[in-house]
Amino acid sequence: MKITAEDEKLEKIRADALALCLFEGEKPAGELEKLDKAVSGAIGETIKLGDFKGKLYEVTSIYTHGKIPVVRIFLVGAGKKGEFDSRIARNIAGAAARRALKTGAKKLAIYLGEHLNAAEIIEGIGLATYEPGLYKTKKEDEGRIEELVLVGRANNQVIKHSQIIVESTNWVRKLISEPANVMTPQALVEEARKLAKTYKFGIEVIDEEEAKKRGFGAFVGVARGSEEPSFLVVLKYKGGGKETLGIVGKGITFDSGGISLKPSKGMWEMKMDMAGAAACLGIMKWVGETRPRLNVITVLPLTENLPSGRALKPGDVVKALNGKTIEITNTDAEGRVVLADALAYAQKLGATYLVDLATLTGAINVALGNVATGIMGRPNSWVEKIVRLGREAGELFWQLPTFRDYKEILKSDIADLDNAPGEGQPNAVTGAGAIAGAMFLLEFVNEKVPLAHLDIAATAWLSTERPYLTKGPTGVGVRTLVKLIESLENGG
Ligand code: BES
Ligand code: ZN
Ligand code: ZN
Repeated sequence: MKITAEDEKLEKIRADALALCLFEGEKPAGELEKLDKAVSGAIGETIKLGDFKGKLYEVTSIYTHGKIPVVRIFLVGAGKKGEFDSRIARNIAGAAARRALKTGAKKLAIYLGEHLNAAEIIEGIGLATYEPGLYKTKKEDEGRIEELVLVGRANNQVIKHSQIIVESTNWVRKLISEPANVMTPQALVEEARKLAKTYKFGIEVIDEEEAKKRGFGAFVGVARGSEEPSFLVVLKYKGGGKETLGIVGKGITFDSGGISLKPSKGMWEMKMDMAGAAACLGIMKWVGETRPRLNVITVLPLTENLPSGRALKPGDVVKALNGKTIEITNTDAEGRVVLADALAYAQKLGATYLVDLATLTGAINVALGNVATGIMGRPNSWVEKIVRLGREAGELFWQLPTFRDYKEILKSDIADLDNAPGEGQPNAVTGAGAIAGAMFLLEFVNEKVPLAHLDIAATAWLSTERPYLTKGPTGVGVRTLVKLIESLENGG
């Protein structure tokens, strides 16, 4: 998509559609009033007659009948003025773009006005126009936006920067969309290798045999059930300074549940159980493109979770890299098991801050639905920082507690930890499935190293579309981590 900025009068803009955003009850004023005059008051009339109310993500189309060079005007609802924020700004742009796709408009202009900025619009539109039909041999009629015109102030650097974010995020979405027979652990390793080559990252690929020798017993345990070769992959970027951000992503390329087999309804969606690892690769792509002044490493445990004669059985015990033993009471709680080794390894490699992204629990969907991503960890300042940066990036996070009392959940009769508390034996603490996942992960992280665990199980994949987003993979996490890296780079 070509992106240009124009400081031209609205009445002079040439495009298939011009999108204007208006709040509930707002009347065209200033530049919009001039434009309204040029179209003989059609905008004002549409509002007055109630065809457009300004409701959030509402889009009403007005034809200009050749009065101005633009073919049609989209009035896009911005909702209540007091509720407006940068996330809504992105979504409004997305809603306009999705309408443009449906009408076949190829050149879309958007008026920035007072409330929108270039970064939000480019991200909103870039994400809204992601094409999901990877394997359709005949493209459906849905159009494609070839050119985006930003009407107002926009600087080229901001445009370029936002385009990199969009490209990285949409690439992540493609990786997640790919079926598990294509996006195998091996295929993800190849993607990591390509990144390493293009951006001159250090890379370490540890295969199963090597992992076994080196004590990654938790990872190897999960990997045993699969016929596909499994790998732990590390990418290392040296940007300078004393601190190293370690990002760890759950990379289960298909989660059948293993011997604790999942029900078949909806199981196909478990090809997205590598969304955390994919997001980490996307963040590294952004790192490679923008080369921040911060050391960043990513550790990705890549395997399938399948039942077989060699697979882990409920009751089996494995030993993680940090020496702790884990009783596997449910083989479907495999994410925390592979992440245990990955988190321990990231610290060995010198990570001074940690963030993990993982489609870890169905329970997070019960707690927060598919709206906000669950975030847990320590210290609070680290978690709160990410919540705040998420807001700026247009992603919602909500913190759940990790009070010491929850630690009871992890008790096993035979080993140090139980991977699926409550599944095997009755437990002193009940419920709190998403928190249990976080408590488990914290057992593998030194108290001195901040950890934020992002449970993206409900937000990495949407089963229904939104006015501003296609259904399927969302690429959640990439934009917030970009903000985090920028903040750490600037000593924040
Ligand atoms: N990959 C799943 C979690 C998941 C659920 C991701 C729905 C995306 C959508 C994870 O490995 C899992 O199965 N977790 C279990 C844990 C339980 C057995 C303690 C769960 O949430 O049921
Ligand atoms: Zn599972
Ligand atoms: Zn899983």
